[in-house]
Amino acid sequence: MKKLLIFNWKMAPQSLSEAKRLLTNNLQPTTNNKNVEVIVCPPFIYLSGLSSVVGRRSSVKLGAQDVFYKNQGVYTGEISAKMLKNLGVEYVIIGHSERRKYLNETDEMINKKILAGLKAGLKVILCVGEPTRGRKYKAESIKRAKNYVKKQLEKDLKGILSLVVGRKSLVGNLAIAYEPVWAIGGNHSDTPQDALEMIKYIKQVLSIKYQALGIRALYGGSVSSKNIGDFLKHPEIDGALVGHASLKPKEVETIIKTVGKL
Ligand code: 13P
Repeated sequence: MKKLLIFNWKMAPQSLSEAKRLLTNNLQPTTNNKNVEVIVCPPFIYLSGLSSVVGRRSSVKLGAQDVFYKNQGVYTGEISAKMLKNLGVEYVIIGHSERRKYLNETDEMINKKILAGLKAGLKVILCVGEPTRGRKYKAESIKRAKNYVKKQLEKDLKGILSLVVGRKSLVGNLAIAYEPVWAIGGNHSDTPQDALEMIKYIKQVLSIKYQALGIRALYGGSVSSKNIGDFLKHPEIDGALVGHASLKPKEVETIIKTVGKL
């Protein structure tokens, strides 16, 4: 299966022309790369301008960084899943820890967003991850982290099994990004071994709770060209969610090439 590389630009860059330049840099290294699926998630306001650069048949896909849970109505400032879909956007990140922290997004809101996104035909990347990790008692803190993530999954994914179109469940359109909050920021990633353990655990929880086999699980948190290979060489880690490095063209190029050769 192709590895998924999701580049989350967060609140950058500051102009559409810069965004177009960044995207073009993302497009180039993907042209000969059959092993990688590349998704670029710019701020909402650039999606329209970038959709004409990407084109519907491009190997690079567009994703949004958030979506609202209502289809339409009087919700000032919000963007619906259908608006994204109509623009040719395929993916949406939901439940990023920065939104949980700075915008007080609750698991209940995140759950509604996931249901709305999947119903509208978007592919959803749900972010989960524990806020801290103790260093002294490793086994104990990993156990605590697993419990934390399990609770997030249970709350955020409530009701997804009822989402069926025809006979096909929409659960397959979901991917989980394990992003330990303490590892975000570009300086201090999780170890590939611990991330692997958590990703295996997430897949186990999903298969037991939702009989959902084959849901992709990614790692995120200070991913760079230097460590990407150590994470993604493991077949269980299906991809990466990249923050800081996605704004550096040389990093993006090396990341995509490295993953393409795995
Ligand atoms: P960094 O790669 O900058 O740590 O960010 C990770 C992230 O939050 C991606 O969504």
